[in-house]
Amino acid sequence: MAQTIKVKVLRQADPHSGSQWQTFDVAYEAGMNMTTVLLRIAAKPVTSDNENTTPVAYDSCCLEEVCGACTMVIDGRVRQACSALVDDLLKDNTGTIEVRPMTKFPVVRDLVVDRKPMFESLKRIKAWVRVDGYHDTGASARVTPAEQEEAYPLSRCMTCGCCVEACPQFNDRSPFIGPAAISQAILFNSDVTGRVDKGDRLEVLSGRGGVVDCGNSQNCVKVCPKDIPLTDSIAKAGRDTTIHKIKQWFGR
Ligand code: SF4
Ligand code: SF4
Ligand code: FES
Repeated sequence: MAQTIKVKVLRQADPHSGSQWQTFDVAYEAGMNMTTVLLRIAAKPVTSDNENTTPVAYDSCCLEEVCGACTMVIDGRVRQACSALVDDLLKDNTGTIEVRPMTKFPVVRDLVVDRKPMFESLKRIKAWVRVDGYHDTGASARVTPAEQEEAYPLSRCMTCGCCVEACPQFNDRSPFIGPAAISQAILFNSDVTGRVDKGDRLEVLSGRGGVVDCGNSQNCVKVCPKDIPLTDSIAKAGRDTTIHKIKQWFGR
């Protein structure tokens, strides 16, 4: 195994400046992940050409692929830095690991992006369960094991952005809410309390930027680190919105 690894990072000082590549030599450590690599660069921000520079900015929080904050494009594949192991990456490349920020979100600095467009989509589809207050409202309706089995995979979404990064329909020129938000609409519509807002969610899903904007390329489901069945959710959203519209035509 190489004693030193080369890491090429696409850097950007602020949201308005241009970007440039910088390469760093990082001492190899057994079992290191890309977050550790970025930590080592931050501790000694000197390029391979021996130029002093600023530490590479990146986000991280949970360090166990749960929060989605460290999502970036590593060797051309969108993924989380904390679960990207250097040993695995070096198996597939020529010794230089290439890291860049996601392209579907505004860059804040270096590898830090603003995932606000995703959170705005979640707001549009009311990705929450309404509560009247924090008093005891008694037992809620029962959830069957079968319903639980269906809902649990969808609840694993961490709003990381991998699916929208891979989606050709999601970009700043399109109102498309994206696969994650569609899947969350299906999740909250299936919830015994959350379904009180089902009609509103279906209105958004059947309107401009809704499920009809999906081009069915199926890129999203291939990159989701949580194996969320996004294309099943999209198919269900298609069926539910059709039924919703038919009911509206008949005034129900
Ligand atoms: S659906 Fe998967 S890829 Fe998309 S934001 Fe959620 S966890 Fe990430
Ligand atoms: S299936 Fe739809 S949501 Fe998924 S990547 Fe393709 S266009 Fe985007
Ligand atoms: S730090 Fe939370 S997913 Fe990587």
